[in-house]
Amino acid sequence: MEAHRSDARWWHGATLYQVYVRSWLDTDGDGYGDLAGVIAKLDYLAWLGVDGIWLSPTMPSPDDDWGYDVCDYLGVHPELGTLDDLDRLIAEAAQRGMRILLDLVPNHTSTAHPWFADAISGPDSAHRGFYVWADPAPGGGPPNNWLDATGHSAWAFDEASGQYYLHNFLASQADLNWWEPGVHEAFREILRFWFDRGVAGFRIDVAHGLYKDAELRDDPPSAAGATDRLHSRFGLEPVYSANRPQAHSVFRDWRTIAEGYSPPRLLLGETWVAGLDRMAAFHGQGDELQLTFNFPFIFADFTAPALRGIVADTLAALPAGECPVWAASNHDISRFPSRWGGGDERKARLALLVLATLPGTFVLYYGDEIAMTDVDVPPALRRDRMTSGGLGAAGGRDRARSPMQWDAGPSAGFTAAGAVPWLPYGDHAARNVAAQREDPASVLRLCHDLIALRRAEFGGRIAGYRELPGPPGLWTYRVDGLLVAANFTGGPAALDGPVGPVVASSGHGVLDRGILAPWAGVITRPGSGRVS
Ligand code: GLC
Repeated sequence: MEAHRSDARWWHGATLYQVYVRSWLDTDGDGYGDLAGVIAKLDYLAWLGVDGIWLSPTMPSPDDDWGYDVCDYLGVHPELGTLDDLDRLIAEAAQRGMRILLDLVPNHTSTAHPWFADAISGPDSAHRGFYVWADPAPGGGPPNNWLDATGHSAWAFDEASGQYYLHNFLASQADLNWWEPGVHEAFREILRFWFDRGVAGFRIDVAHGLYKDAELRDDPPSAAGATDRLHSRFGLEPVYSANRPQAHSVFRDWRTIAEGYSPPRLLLGETWVAGLDRMAAFHGQGDELQLTFNFPFIFADFTAPALRGIVADTLAALPAGECPVWAASNHDISRFPSRWGGGDERKARLALLVLATLPGTFVLYYGDEIAMTDVDVPPALRRDRMTSGGLGAAGGRDRARSPMQWDAGPSAGFTAAGAVPWLPYGDHAARNVAAQREDPASVLRLCHDLIALRRAEFGGRIAGYRELPGPPGLWTYRVDGLLVAANFTGGPAALDGPVGPVVASSGHGVLDRGILAPWAGVITRPGSGRVS
């Protein structure tokens, strides 16, 4: 058994893996994945070379937003398992050298949370101040123009008190009021509860959202088009309904708590913000979040100039010593083999080769490693309430949440024979773990080898990165002792000068006498020779 690497910053140069638990492996035949299913596949994740597993929400919830509407921050959703199962998962993962991160939702609770039940019982209730309440606008109607994630008013009216409460997502997800000290105290306890149990850290949901403008000023119209999901929420720029600077004080506080543990607990923010400077600001002076999701990278076009430009800007924006994060899929957006690759597997392979060789932390979403694509879910089978119009854009978010494709059998190896999966299967007959594991030329084996290379070359460190000059469609960079050449064009590309022995490539034979095939990448070890 492999022990944890002792490095206190274990996520540097590491690979994290997001398990959307409901879609991973169903061990009790109810059609939903569960924690026992995560335990059952730990050997697979260890084989893949994963250092840390981020579990999508595991806490009790009415599931209006599949766990992002929490009604008990100190428990486990009964449909997923028990606290004992989670303890066992943490211990079993540790035995294999892997750590477990949970998803923490501090921006809002379910309206089924006891805090909200108390708050709505009346203006004098103990928890009234935990939520954002406001009187109607002077002429009646919602207090201001803020919009929720479905494009409707973010305010819900409470007849009994004549006031509105704020919900930036669904009406059953009431925003917490971070101006209230009791909320801070409650979350400190929640952090400690899980850290004490051995949870290695949190992915922090809506990290940019916690504080709202104290005066509840209207959000201004956005200059960006309505489809620009980083700058615009249905035509408004969320500068008062979210993105308030006070959130930084929360993360400084949490960082202090995280640093009180050994190794320090990890805070990874869902920083859904437009500018890289704003993303970088969540690192503070190296005293806030250790890691932040890079949405400008995620939403970039799949071209060499776009991606390498964002990489350069990211490295320039982050404070010295801070670690960038490279991910391309998650449960809210189209999977990258579809979004970037259009189903062309060469592009998915190229993307994986680049993602795995950039300096910092690499985050895979389940199925990325076999190049799972979006699944067209017919309207009658859709399960996501939010994306009829909002967050997920065309096609909704269900398309990226289909069951993991373990094998070619009728239930994809996901659930019992005959059980109905909570979302329909994708192309598991053609694309699955079992077949790809056997096939040395598969995407899965490529991904496995890239992760192994990454760990060997720059595990425990943030590698040094230097872009090399070249034609616009060819992205060439040094990363520590390696040279990466990535051809983002549909034509062959000539590599300039000797590149050294090939260490890995996105496919067999993609480099032939200095010519790199279309949509292909290669990693070489130039040694001390000329590289450009
Ligand atoms: C985040 C989550 C998303 C959820 C929303 C509200 O964006 O990733 O799935 O719907 O927050 O919690």
